[in-house]
Amino acid sequence: MKRILSGIQPSGQLHIGNYFGMMKTMISHMETSDLYVFIVNLHAMTTVHDREKLSAGTLEAAADFLALGLDPDRCTFWVQSDVPEVCELMWVLSTLTPMGLLERCHSYKDKVAKGIGASHGLFSYPVLMAADILLFQSEVVPVGKDQKQHLEVARDIAIKFNNHFGETFVVPEPAISETTAIVPGLDGQKMSKSYGNTIPIFLDDKPLRKKVMSIQTDATPVEDPKDPEKCNLYALLSLFAAKDKLAEVHDLYVNGGAAYGYIKQDLFELIRDYFAGAREKKKELLENQDYLRDVLHKGADKARQKAAVTLDLVRDRVGLRY
Ligand code: ADP
Ligand code: TRP
Repeated sequence: MKRILSGIQPSGQLHIGNYFGMMKTMISHMETSDLYVFIVNLHAMTTVHDREKLSAGTLEAAADFLALGLDPDRCTFWVQSDVPEVCELMWVLSTLTPMGLLERCHSYKDKVAKGIGASHGLFSYPVLMAADILLFQSEVVPVGKDQKQHLEVARDIAIKFNNHFGETFVVPEPAISETTAIVPGLDGQKMSKSYGNTIPIFLDDKPLRKKVMSIQTDATPVEDPKDPEKCNLYALLSLFAAKDKLAEVHDLYVNGGAAYGYIKQDLFELIRDYFAGAREKKKELLENQDYLRDVLHKGADKARQKAAVTLDLVRDRVGLRY
């Protein structure tokens, strides 16, 4: 069984792109792997400096995962800051990390260009991420393309440490989801919080319908043929519609007769029904925050046991034991 690990930032409303691009896959790994999932609140602090936002966002992210089907008894699920061992490992790793390696990271430069404060935490973000990964001897790390370079940093650090101090860390393999189609947003660009074009999955019916109705489509008359492969509405529909329904709509696109308004109404109903159970579950979970905390604390206890084994070895290797 492969050990698979991934961390998720507690940053705002989960959208359809996040679900199909990442969460659904992570949840399915539960069946076949030794799965580690955690909420990276320490990483979020590089951009969020609002007490309420960070703490409420952390609980909400936990509720999202559990509502969508993550079973904490079949994986290790925790909040990053509840396993402080990661900070010690980060320090050790940072003493081996060349400045040049971090200076080359695009993510840091992009974030600073967008106006995020160029703090030391933001700069050393990849070292904390390496510590997350190496602390649990992770074999596979599923991430989006934007995190590919950070994974390479983690591998470089692991190899350097192993060469210098002797075999200690598993060198992790990235699993980059090149094949997961990019889910388009309301305007046809990649669905992303930063573009303001998302369809959040836990909206109530009325605002959800409004969002779906605002999907941008072209001005081709109903009776004219259209290319379904070039239509963001069709791409979104294909994530939810059953095969025969989709084939029916495909015919209308190709032969003429596809009315966007009706298709949007169908899409709204499909999204509403697809997430109906999860939406109810999330409400219940958020009303029972003590339960959520209990799940996360138990997860952290499990994670700390594994973390302690690696950290013991690291302390020994580098000479922190005396
Ligand atoms: P956002 O772009 O909304 O800020 P994040 O960067 O926080 O989203 O992404 C969290 C996860 O969701 C990542 O694994 C990312 O690859 C995935 N993801 C985000 N948007 C999409 C999308 N439009 N299509 C597919 N996957 C996505
Ligand atoms: N940097 C990742 C992101 O923004 C989140 C993350 C932090 C992570 N630590 C990790 C992902 C360890 C995978 C493994 O999406």
